[in-house]
Amino acid sequence: MRISASLCLAVLACATFVATAATAQQASKPASITAATPPMGWNSWNFFAGRVTDKDIRAAADNLVATGMKDAGYIYVNIDDTWEGQRDETGVLHTNDKFPDMKALADYVHSKGLKIGIYSGPGNKTCGGYAASLGHEEQDAKMYAEWGIDYLKYDLCSFIPDVMIKQAPDDKAAQMRIMIDAYQKMGNALKATGRPIVFSLCQYGWDAVWEWAPALGGNLWRTTGDIDPHWDRIYAILSQQDGLAKYAGPGHWNDPDMLEVGNGKLSLNENWSHFAMWSMLAAPLLAGNDLPNMKPEIKAILTNKDVIAIDQDSLGKQATRVYSDGEVEVWTRHLSGGAMAIAVLAAGDSRFSTHPFHLDLAKLGLHGPQKGKNLRDGQEITLTNNMPIEIQSHDTLLVRIAAPK
Ligand code: GLA
Repeated sequence: MRISASLCLAVLACATFVATAATAQQASKPASITAATPPMGWNSWNFFAGRVTDKDIRAAADNLVATGMKDAGYIYVNIDDTWEGQRDETGVLHTNDKFPDMKALADYVHSKGLKIGIYSGPGNKTCGGYAASLGHEEQDAKMYAEWGIDYLKYDLCSFIPDVMIKQAPDDKAAQMRIMIDAYQKMGNALKATGRPIVFSLCQYGWDAVWEWAPALGGNLWRTTGDIDPHWDRIYAILSQQDGLAKYAGPGHWNDPDMLEVGNGKLSLNENWSHFAMWSMLAAPLLAGNDLPNMKPEIKAILTNKDVIAIDQDSLGKQATRVYSDGEVEVWTRHLSGGAMAIAVLAAGDSRFSTHPFHLDLAKLGLHGPQKGKNLRDGQEITLTNNMPIEIQSHDTLLVRIAAPK
């Protein structure tokens, strides 16, 4: 009797110990971060704009899988503006004819091992003039969660005239506070759903959004106005990112807007430089091209695993521009394990290979020859001080140095 009693006590103590240890382990386990690395996927706007349909989104999901982009990390399939129909008398927002069944579409995208994103805004109307979420934030967030939505892009647009200017006509600072409250409202509504939904703020970088967006649950925020597939625009956006590195990190990213790789008349060098520099910026990589008709050289850029590894580096440290020399710029990014990425970009229109650029390693804090990998051709490269680099207009030399000295 005594034996079994003490055995019982020992078992109990042991069980308590195991349970306590398990709880302690759980407590010390970091909660998983939403958007621990910059979100990657595809968004409908840059190619389809207002024409996008349910069929296009299904085809995008199919193509992300078929092209190997899913395996390269492109997980989100994001429906941008123009899916919205009318609200009924209970306030429920219905889809329009182009999207007959959003739940079924989300299930389809999920069945491919992908995630799905949607679009709305804090105003009465979206930028395209469709119904947005003003006064229905919680109802909409709940509906997204019920559909299985994983990502929301929330676009300011009509909130500016309808609410900000109307409520505080001559007070810009008050307008900004109203705007921040509107994003807070949706941040709270998403949180209340209990579903991890990436929250993407689209308000064009107003009022130093990078300062306040993380606190209200923002995982990424646009830092500028819209991108378009022209080098001048891409470069103008790139220039505005310098200095923002300190605001980016796991779970919260600067968003210089979605990719135009493969769109318009960008040259191959421009497509490459756009992708290389967005990866240096730890930017969300949201392709926006015509996936079914993607050319092999565009696919090669978008699925370049070494470049994607720069973008997705777990440290999450965005690049800074270390120096420029006329129209050539040198950016560096610190990577996990002490590695470093160096980008030499010929940003201007008039540099050709006959007059090489000379790289000043000391300016990058490096001394002596640096062994690395050229991420465009995958070849080994050794950077030496003052070495001549032949680089053409709008091209980028992107090098990863495993052990910088
Ligand atoms: C704004 C955004 C774009 C796109 C359109 C849709 O212009 O910045 O990215 O979402 O609205 O109407």
